[in-house]
Amino acid sequence: MTAHTPKLFVKSYGCQMNVYDAERMADALAPEGYVETESADDADLIILNTCHIREKAAEKVYSELGRIRKMKQETGRRPKVAVAGCVAQAEGAEILKRAPVVDLVVGPQSYHRLPELLREAAEGRRPVDTEFSVEDKFDHLSRPAPKAIRGRGVTAFVTVQEGCDKFCTFCVVPYTRGAEASRSVAQIVAETERLVAAGVREVTLLGQNVDAFHGEGPDGRAWSLARLLERLAEIGRLARLRYTTSHPRDMDDDLIAAHRDLPKLMPYLHLPVQSGSDRILAAMNRKHTADEYLRLIDKVRAARPDLALSGDFIVGFPGETDADFEATMAIARAADYASAFTFKYSPRPGTPASDMAGQVAEAVKDERLQRLQALISKQQAAFARSLIGRRIDVLLDRPGRHTGQLAGRSPYLQPVQIVAPGANLGDVIDAVVTDVGANSLFAAPAGGARETHREPAEATA
Ligand code: 5AD
Ligand code: SF4
Repeated sequence: MTAHTPKLFVKSYGCQMNVYDAERMADALAPEGYVETESADDADLIILNTCHIREKAAEKVYSELGRIRKMKQETGRRPKVAVAGCVAQAEGAEILKRAPVVDLVVGPQSYHRLPELLREAAEGRRPVDTEFSVEDKFDHLSRPAPKAIRGRGVTAFVTVQEGCDKFCTFCVVPYTRGAEASRSVAQIVAETERLVAAGVREVTLLGQNVDAFHGEGPDGRAWSLARLLERLAEIGRLARLRYTTSHPRDMDDDLIAAHRDLPKLMPYLHLPVQSGSDRILAAMNRKHTADEYLRLIDKVRAARPDLALSGDFIVGFPGETDADFEATMAIARAADYASAFTFKYSPRPGTPASDMAGQVAEAVKDERLQRLQALISKQQAAFARSLIGRRIDVLLDRPGRHTGQLAGRSPYLQPVQIVAPGANLGDVIDAVVTDVGANSLFAAPAGGARETHREPAEATA
């Protein structure tokens, strides 16, 4: 028998949690001998790790399945095909009906069961596992080998909570990812320490509603996100911490203070507002007003004046009038974003807003989206230009576009191109911003390349 190493191709759509989950699926299948491949063409197992947040995202899975079906016909290859992620959770067995090419469907809470499900699929059954199991999936997931971690680079995600109890009326997350649940502090610390020991320098804590984190601490009590960040900042070789995504209602004073007190916590905050109109915010069940949001931003900026603010907006929510949209433009101007994501409202089956009266015409949504995007782009460019001549730390995380160039990230999450002789990936270097491009900053080492493995005490600029 010739030894065949089975190849796995995971295609992820949507949010960063899917990127994290894709790695967990690869980890779950590594003990079965699977190695990852970059292309579906030579894969023995193709997993589509899907997103259900907007209709366009959800439809992508079916066009991709169509392509895979064609590829199978044309090449005669017979890879197994799995649908994972939030479309799997939302549509379950429907996917098998609509797409005969699919061999198995697995929801986000069941990735540890992939080896078992594959065995069932090999027997010709088409298993569907979309249980919200009572067991903690994180307890059952395999740990990645240090070599696998290193292959994934010097930045990493760590999921600290999943699910959401907020029930914004437009959003599928409370249905696809379930109720809010936090991991224990011990689990998160152990995972972060393993990542750092393998060379990771920056960790982003992930959660659909990350600032609602309340995982059990070593003292048996629920710890806040601020306390968790403080604990993780004690890990010596870890240079940077980030977290995403937050809800304004769950940003407490301790978390705001962490932006002042923890030098390893990067000056970046992704805080979706969705709309600037109180009437629309109420219809969205956002549980905050425009003014409360702005006052919150003021408080975070008082704690960390150079904060780069990011956000999410939805235009064309049912009932949104011209005046409501002007209020959204006004809050965007007032908050002054370093970046933001803007979306057209997309009705999602099963969510309260999908059958609200006053659905907005597509052309109106398009026009509003364009105006908001133009404003955000202007703000983003102005923020980048304000950094010219300033010193920033750059974490070198990948080779650059040209020979001799390295690429990294600023504290504000912008891509940075830099020529830094003698520097290595994983180094944090002290640099001066020299210019801005369309999507990245250009920087030069400040006084020569040097490693700045700074301990917290020295790191305050
Ligand atoms: N339509 C458009 N945008 C949406 N989002 C969530 N649900 C919808 C929807 N039904 C956006 C929100 C959220 C981001 C992840 O996606 O802005 O913050
Ligand atoms: Fe969805 Fe975020 Fe609202 Fe939760 S807080 S329902 S994840 S938009």
